[in-house]
Amino acid sequence: MRISVIGVGKLGVCTASCFAGAGYEVIGVDVNRQFIDAINEGRAPLYEPGLQEMMDSCGRRLTATMDYEKAMAESDMTFLIVPTPSRGDGSFSDEYLRDGLAHLARAMKRLDKKRHVFVITSTVSPGTTEKHLIPLIEAESGKSLGRDFGVAYNPEFIALGSVIRDFLNPDVVLIGASDRETAEQVESVYRRTCANDPYVAAMSIVSAEVAKISLNSYVTMKISFANTLANLCERIPGASVDDITAALGADKRVSSHYLKGGLSFGGPCFPRDNKAFTTFAAGYGIDARLARATEEVNSFQIENLVSVVRREAPEGRAVAVLGLAYKPGTPVIERSPSIDLIEDLLSRETEIVAYDPLSIDNVRARFGDSILYASSVRDCFEAAGVVVLATADPEFAAIDESYVVHDGTLVIDCWRVLDTSRLGQKALYMAVGWNPETPWSCWE
Ligand SMILES: NC(=O)c1ccc[n+]([C@@H]2O[C@H](COP(=O)([O-])OP(=O)(O)OC[C@H]3O[C@@H](n4cnc5c(N)ncnc54)[C@H](O)[C@@H]3O)[C@@H](O)[C@H]2O)c1
Repeated sequence: MRISVIGVGKLGVCTASCFAGAGYEVIGVDVNRQFIDAINEGRAPLYEPGLQEMMDSCGRRLTATMDYEKAMAESDMTFLIVPTPSRGDGSFSDEYLRDGLAHLARAMKRLDKKRHVFVITSTVSPGTTEKHLIPLIEAESGKSLGRDFGVAYNPEFIALGSVIRDFLNPDVVLIGASDRETAEQVESVYRRTCANDPYVAAMSIVSAEVAKISLNSYVTMKISFANTLANLCERIPGASVDDITAALGADKRVSSHYLKGGLSFGGPCFPRDNKAFTTFAAGYGIDARLARATEEVNSFQIENLVSVVRREAPEGRAVAVLGLAYKPGTPVIERSPSIDLIEDLLSRETEIVAYDPLSIDNVRARFGDSILYASSVRDCFEAAGVVVLATADPEFAAIDESYVVHDGTLVIDCWRVLDTSRLGQKALYMAVGWNPETPWSCWE
């Protein structure tokens, strides 16, 4: 089995490297020349923990090209991992998938290839593969589903910042397939690649399409529930949201993952998958009330922080925002709550100092010279009287009184990462989900 991967971006290059790391010959295809050159030179084209090491371990088994025909000729199974941007109504565009599949299908026809497996990994709106993509492959290749090619929908549930680890250790491998043989072929690739022994959920293509967005919609619902609990505990002296979610999470019916109250969820997947779930349900006459409420809670969570910062940072007081990506460990700032906060403060002409260990280049590309950029956490305390810790970056846990330069510096800790006993007398402390009358340890 030789593999090709169309789209070697954030998810695609990690997928391609993991398959090559497992011993497969893998050829990547992308429209981005820089990514192709980087891969052929053995360099990771973007930052993701463990990616460079994985690429180092797979030697010449991973190559890349811009030539679809070469990829079709030199592989038996193709994973398509191209963008599927959201449309205005929340559904996913399949424009890039159609483009990639049309190129591949024409190459299949020219080569008169006998059998090929197409695996769609990009997130799609339910129904897309059978209604639009399979007919397109048949029309462009002149071949028939089942006899000449198989199709699978095989989405990933990885999180940026831990893509390689998640890919190698999935809880579930979801395979929607056009036929049993195709499902078994995709499964065997994962069995050889995964470090664990995952549950393989094989089903129809449309079931897998629904399962993918349902899972993300469910997880965001859980996050919004924890955020609501945090807001509640902020009002109740003595109530600790972290103690409460620890107890809830210990119950098997709930589980502890994604159950920490804090700021809104963001990033390239969660907000749009949840919205897509609502749109898809509405298309079948179902009002997905829980998904809509999840989105409402999520918007409230950042609006609430914005109003707190507005209140606490009167005009003329500089604000430092630390943690600019949508979560720690990634440079991605798409739908990041910090970016919403900065935008609001800019509209009030507040002086802003921004810091993040990984995402400064992306933030600079977005805001240019309209904000200041700090090169360390200490620089932020030097420059601002209000310091907002917007992610739970492990680096921030080191903050203690030696960082606090100005008397009355207000620290707003959105994830309760600081040890307040080490913060000294000069700083004032507020935290999302924490009531000032709640002792840090419950029996203090
Ligand atoms: N990144 C994630 O955490 C994640 C998780 C689960 C699912 N997904 C899904 O995976 C898909 C890809 O996401 P991503 O984050 O890797 O996107 P990305 O933008 O980082 O990468 C996509 C890559 O596809 C390339 N590309 C675009 N059109 C192409 C074409 N016609 N032919 C070849 N290459 C082409 C782009 O140049 C880019 O390198 C999306 O549908 C996304 O929803 C992403």
